[in-house]
Amino acid sequence: MCRSVVGYPKDVISERMVGSGPIIGQDAIKKRSFLDLCYPLADGVIREASERDYDAAYELIKHVVGLAKQGTDSPVSGIIGVPARASIMNKELLLDIAKEVMSVALVVSEPFMVAYQLGKLSNCIVIDIGAGTVDICGMKGTVPAADDQVTFLKGGDFIDGRLEAAIARHYPGVQITDSVACAIKEAHAFVGEATAPVIAKLRMEGKPVAFDVTEDVRVVCESIVPDIVEQLETLIMKFDPEDQEEALKNIILAGGGSRIRGLDRMIARQMKDYGEIVVTCVDDPEFVGSAGALRLATEIPADKWPEIGVMFGAD
Ligand SMILES: Nc1ncnc2c1ncn2[C@@H]1O[C@H](COP(=O)(O)OP(=O)(O)O)[C@@H](O)[C@H]1O
Ligand SMILES: [Mg+2]
Repeated sequence: MCRSVVGYPKDVISERMVGSGPIIGQDAIKKRSFLDLCYPLADGVIREASERDYDAAYELIKHVVGLAKQGTDSPVSGIIGVPARASIMNKELLLDIAKEVMSVALVVSEPFMVAYQLGKLSNCIVIDIGAGTVDICGMKGTVPAADDQVTFLKGGDFIDGRLEAAIARHYPGVQITDSVACAIKEAHAFVGEATAPVIAKLRMEGKPVAFDVTEDVRVVCESIVPDIVEQLETLIMKFDPEDQEEALKNIILAGGGSRIRGLDRMIARQMKDYGEIVVTCVDDPEFVGSAGALRLATEIPADKWPEIGVMFGAD
């Protein structure tokens, strides 16, 4: 799993351990004790005020483009997925960075790319639960307009922070970090009925102890559901009344957070006053958006890209 993180050596000694250059992704997480970690896209966009975030975002994009080039010197065109409601300012900021390493770049709404990949371009709602943000997008047969999309900050990172705090409160004296909480979540996340108790081996005063964290995991995972349901209720009203029934049978869950067991059923149950609801989880939820971007790049000629998002490099 790729993490959008950049690590800078903490001091001259850590530089001797890991070298002076920034370290990207999982490698940075592994070497975290030597590094100051920076998550430049933590909220799905670049924090506009921070020079450090801007530099780290540049390092990330340069790294990804380097992977795409595979040592060759050919020009790279890229599509960058952003939260549904990223600001114009932020898209421009991303494009400024992309200009330094790509010849053509297009910034598009991520849930739209998910819909594109699935060929669900009308009467469908995509819910993309990522690390930083949850993005929801109503598809009506066109490039989605701003008010058909919502973004809120209750993605995977929010759950990790909540779970860390819940376990620390439940078992005073236990040693837990957000990355341990994240690992527990990725192995056991669920809402509704537990199929088996969730037991986590953690340390208490240095000694390993097994803790039952079933309730903590359930409550924290369920804490993102009310916002999702509320936003769905708002978006559905913006469809034509005769299209609402079909849209409610076409709710798509994507993003790593869609792996939370039981989430599809819980959302459907909470919307039951609206009639028949079908919520479907996609295969390969972390990559479906990138697959959609690649498909879009091959199917739609670059001179039409400005109709889809903001870009540079088109003639
Ligand atoms: N089984 C799982 N249950 C719940 N969350 C998960 C699971 N697997 C991965 N995640 C979470 O999904 C998020 C990453 O999803 P992804 O769609 O790749 O995000 P982004 O597009 O923001 O990079 C992380 O917060 C990760 O911890
Ligand atoms: Mg995503």
